[in-house]
Amino acid sequence: MARIIGGITTSHIPAVGNAIANEMFDEPYWKPFFDGYPPIREWLHDERPDVVINIYNDHGLGFFLNQMPTFAIGAAHEYINEDEGWGIPKLDPFPGDPELSWHIIEGMVADEFDIASCQELAVDHGFTVPMQLFWPGAPHNPEMPRAIPISANTVQHPIPTLNRALNFGKALGKAIRSYPEDIKVVVLGTGGLSHQLDGERAGHINREFDEMCMEKIVTAPEELTKISRMELVRQAGTQGTEFLMWMMMRGALTEKVTPLHKNYHIPISNTGAGTMLMECTD
Ligand code: DHB
Ligand code: FE
Repeated sequence: MARIIGGITTSHIPAVGNAIANEMFDEPYWKPFFDGYPPIREWLHDERPDVVINIYNDHGLGFFLNQMPTFAIGAAHEYINEDEGWGIPKLDPFPGDPELSWHIIEGMVADEFDIASCQELAVDHGFTVPMQLFWPGAPHNPEMPRAIPISANTVQHPIPTLNRALNFGKALGKAIRSYPEDIKVVVLGTGGLSHQLDGERAGHINREFDEMCMEKIVTAPEELTKISRMELVRQAGTQGTEFLMWMMMRGALTEKVTPLHKNYHIPISNTGAGTMLMECTD
C-alpha cells in the first residue's frame, strides 16, 4: 500500500525563482533563506519518495477569475509551466502520475469532497519554486518524484476555511493510503507565511503569528481551525491566507508527527518565509 512518509512546507516567493536562476545562494540577503533547505534535501535523498503531492495555490495562471475551483487536482501525464508575470525563467514540463491522481479523485469524491479534476493544468511559481528548492535542477533532477499538483483558491473570496483545509487533507491522506501500490509519498504545502502584496497594508508581516502557526501545526493543528478567515487575513495579510495549503498538507499526515527541521526568515521579498519538515510516525 502507499505510505505517506512526511510533509514539507515552504514559502513559494517568485523572487526565489529568480535568485535560483542567478545562483544567488551565498549572497547576504539570500543565504539565511537558502540555508534552510539542505537538511530537507538530505532527508529526501535518503527517503527517495516516488510521488510528491504539491499543494499550492494557483495565482492566475491555471485558473482565473472567470473559472475558480475551490479545490482542483491535477490528473495529467505532465504539467507545463508558464510565468504569469514575475519574469522567472519558464521550466520544462513536470511528469505526473495520472493513475494515482484518479485514485485520489475517486476516493475523495466518494468521501464527499467535490473537486475539479484537471487533465490539463499549467503550474505557476507556487508549484515550481518549491520543486526547485527541494530538487535542484527540477524537472531534470533524476531524484525528483512524479508530481501531482493540488490547488486551492486563495485568490477570490469565498476562500475555504482552515477547518475545511485540514479536513481536505485528512480525506486526501485516506485516499492516498488506500492506493494498492507500495509507493512512498511526500506532501508539500507551499505559500505563506504572513504577507500582503497590495493595498494599505502592503508589506504587512506578523512574526509572532507565523511562529505560533509553525508551532501549532505540529502539535495541535485542530486549534488553528478556530481562526476565522477574516482573522487569518487580519493577522497574516491578504496573501497570508496561503497558510491554508499548510493545513491541507498537515491533514494528510499522521495525527502525531516528528518535527525534523524548521527555518524562519524575514523578509524575503514581502514575505515571512517559513520552511518545515515533519515526518509521519507510522
Ligand atoms: C510574493 C509572495 C508570494 O507568495 C507570491 O505568490 C508572490 C509574491 C512576494 O513576497 O513577493
Ligand atoms: Fe503566493
